[in-house]
Amino acid sequence: MGPPWSGGVWGGRPPEASTAYAGFVPSRPYLLLSCATSADGYLDDASPRRLILSGPADLDRVDEVRAGCDAILVGAQTVRNDNPRLLIRDPRRSARRTARGLPPHPARVTLTATGDLDPAARFFAPGAPRLVYCATPALARARTRLGDSAVLIDAGDPLSLGFMLTDLAERAGPRALVEGGARVLGDFLAAGLADELHLAVAPFFVADPARPAPASAPRPDLPNPIPTSPFFSPNNTTSPMTLAGVSRVGEIALLRYLLGPGGPDHRFLRWAVELSRLCPPSATAFSVGAVVVGEDGEVLATGFSREQEDHDHAEEAALRKLGPRDPRLRHATLYSSLVPCGARASRPVTCVQHIVAAGIPRVVFAWREPALFTDGQGAEQLLAAGVAVTEVPELAERARAINAHLVRPGT
Ligand SMILES: NC(=O)c1ccc[n+]([C@@H]2O[C@H](COP(=O)([O-])OP(=O)(O)OC[C@H]3O[C@@H](n4cnc5c(N)ncnc54)[C@H](OP(=O)(O)O)[C@@H]3O)[C@@H](O)[C@H]2O)c1
Repeated sequence: MGPPWSGGVWGGRPPEASTAYAGFVPSRPYLLLSCATSADGYLDDASPRRLILSGPADLDRVDEVRAGCDAILVGAQTVRNDNPRLLIRDPRRSARRTARGLPPHPARVTLTATGDLDPAARFFAPGAPRLVYCATPALARARTRLGDSAVLIDAGDPLSLGFMLTDLAERAGPRALVEGGARVLGDFLAAGLADELHLAVAPFFVADPARPAPASAPRPDLPNPIPTSPFFSPNNTTSPMTLAGVSRVGEIALLRYLLGPGGPDHRFLRWAVELSRLCPPSATAFSVGAVVVGEDGEVLATGFSREQEDHDHAEEAALRKLGPRDPRLRHATLYSSLVPCGARASRPVTCVQHIVAAGIPRVVFAWREPALFTDGQGAEQLLAAGVAVTEVPELAERARAINAHLVRPGT
């Protein structure tokens, strides 16, 4: 079923704003926040021109991230200040989306309490679907200003982020990218709705007293106690984010954090589930994602089904990147969206055998394999081999939904 773009004004009654992960409800999209800051934490300076914090390599990285998402969301102030196109730049990436049955570009999404948006902005140009989530009191104004240039959705009074995300998942799909600005990033972090944060740190300072850094920006709109930072979040010093990657992209330092409830186990497993969306489609094999994490929390490798070769399983693809004799595997945890296979038709060695041979002491998985292709008892075999196994059934439906074309609900 395609995304229900047909729109006009949504007339339903928004549910209460969500302040948590909504019990891992799969209808909420996976929310990836992405932004670039100066070394002292500024998202912009006070000049009228847009501050360019990213170099070409980082812009290309963001383009790849965009291509993997169903929607790109920015705040109305970013639409007004930066006038972004929010399109995928590399046509090969758009072509890959089209080949997978997706629109060539993700949906453009914004939210507004005032409805003060200019229909001549690039956001409203053809090329990608446009969704505007509007607080109820500003609906009439927004409708007059925007006409047919976007689908206008009543998101409640005050605008409910929880409703917005649930509605967005139905209209656009399960993976959304939030690209700023500060208010929007802060709102999603404060509401505990973010799953991942990509923080690109540029190699210069802004130190602009006219443009407060995140650590001192006023947030009068949030409930008491008033946090002082747009990066205020439930992930504070006592509940930190999970650092999942540090890398260099040209002159930019890229920090990749996982957020959300459940601590590192749930976060790494949710990431593994998201990786399974990257699998080349198949009518005869599951789409699975895997993440291998070392004893110190370092991500050693990731993999997904059919990543390099047609019959690749996710665990196999990840372990191949390390080699079975990597000593770090003897203290690692392997996260897999589906229980590792204990029997397989495609190749002689099962994933359980790969895991045991590598000496991995612990496996965490979300979804028990339904007896569709094999009868493999992967979890039981791992336990029998002395591997500690943790099942996280709360995430099973998310993992299953990505394979919905193969299995019926509840299987
Ligand atoms: N460095 C980066 O990666 C990056 C990325 C993007 C943007 N930026 C910069 O960030 C700056 C803009 O940031 P900003 O914090 O001023 O604005 P913003 O987050 O882009 O947008 C804020 C606006 O979005 C609407 N909004 C946000 N949350 C809402 C909610 N919960 N309910 C109702 N409406 C909501 C409101 O629109 P209305 O005013 O219409 O009611 C609000 O004024 C720009 O200077 C831009 O250059 C930097």
